Amino acid sequence: MGMHAVRVYDGVQWHRLEVENGTILRDALLTHDLSPYTALTEMVNCGGRGLCATCGVRLAEGVPASHWHDRAAQRFGYPRLSCQIRVRKPLTVYLDTDKWIWGGRRSNEPSDVS
Ligand code: FES
Repeated sequence: MGMHAVRVYDGVQWHRLEVENGTILRDALLTHDLSPYTALTEMVNCGGRGLCATCGVRLAEGVPASHWHDRAAQRFGYPRLSCQIRVRKPLTVYLDTDKWIWGGRRSNEPSDVS
């Protein structure tokens, strides 16, 4: 148990959340009115089931991926699926303010892949 500090940059300012260990990152973000979605995907998404890939965020820290799509995102530099990440340690999260739906690839994505 316990709480973790999650810092979130929304493209304008930083927010500091206290998130209970094991909470799904997507849920923590939505609880604090920090949506990982765009205006379009806010209305149409899979509800956190790992199917639509619209909940992507950037993470400063490497976080192991368990879901196949999130492993691919991690490996190839796409936004990580916030619905497939449990908060197990302090995190720094960047909402992807450039994306229309999924967000693009970045080659300098932090990664646990060796
Ligand atoms: S909400 Fe659909 S993949 Fe995360």
